[in-house]
Amino acid sequence: MKTIGLLTSGGDAPGMNAAIRAIVRTCVFNGIRAMGIRFGYDGLIRGDIKEMAVSSVADIIQRGGTILGSARSEEFVTTVGFEKALTTLRDFEIDAVIVLGGDGSFKGAKSLSEAGIKTIGIPCTIDNDMGYTDYTIGFYTAVETIVEAISKIRDTSSSHGRGNVIEVMGRKCGDLALYSGVASGAESILVPEIGLNLDEVIERVKQGKRRGKLHHIIVLAEGAGNAEEVAKTVEEATDVATRVTILGHVQRGGNPAAYDRLQASQMGNRAVKLLIEGATGRALGNRMNQIYDMDIIEAVNTKNHLNLELYEIAKELSI
Ligand code: F6P
Repeated sequence: MKTIGLLTSGGDAPGMNAAIRAIVRTCVFNGIRAMGIRFGYDGLIRGDIKEMAVSSVADIIQRGGTILGSARSEEFVTTVGFEKALTTLRDFEIDAVIVLGGDGSFKGAKSLSEAGIKTIGIPCTIDNDMGYTDYTIGFYTAVETIVEAISKIRDTSSSHGRGNVIEVMGRKCGDLALYSGVASGAESILVPEIGLNLDEVIERVKQGKRRGKLHHIIVLAEGAGNAEEVAKTVEEATDVATRVTILGHVQRGGNPAAYDRLQASQMGNRAVKLLIEGATGRALGNRMNQIYDMDIIEAVNTKNHLNLELYEIAKELSI
């Protein structure tokens, strides 16, 4: 193993930089060249690649985003684009690729692996929607960001005796809504895995109103439904003025939480070690707080499930 390429792909996630730093430094420590591929698979197709020295990753462990840049490449899934990517790898004499990203990025890594390229995937997405692992890098930072925003909204919600629908990201996965909702003491949490049970929400708002509750925080996962429609339905049925906040991309930025930095440092280091040991086609994950690796094809095919236990706890605590 002489040269390892690394790329970040898909939506950026806080902690990607910490993983990049760990990969580059582990490579250099072990006498391997680290080649940074810019803007994900697009950069691999274009040959937008440069060697990364130890100093290139100084002062980045605390920074959100990704210094390599990211993209959702449409060209890479075409035969022509994929062939170009393989040619680039040959031209730059890259022996292996470490892919940092979510589901879509791992599918790209799987294709590279099937084409005989040594590949390792590191799960990085704020969505936490990868079924084979309990945790993806960036998730805890995003949850912190959401919780902080909800606390601020709650202040004004209580002052005016209003309801607030707060839409959070996550695509088809409800984890961001569920974990941040529980951590903020939200009255209702709406996730795509369960569906829009608005009758329950309305009943809870009415109950709260009878008990003199001054705020009604409803956390809505973006994949569960439309925030404006939810607010309108709740307001009409309860007579409680209900506002909407769509948190958007603020959830993806910011300094990574210590936990994300730690996991990123360990997974980045482990990815290089796996390649040195001769492993290929592996996905790194975290189960029961232990970092482990498994076949990347199996990882991509593992269905994600909502933490139903936490969902039930949320219901019991929001009476
Ligand atoms: O996958 C991360 C994510 O932030 C999702 O939660 C969200 O649906 C999507 O990316 C937004 O993508 P973009 O930044 O391309 O609009």
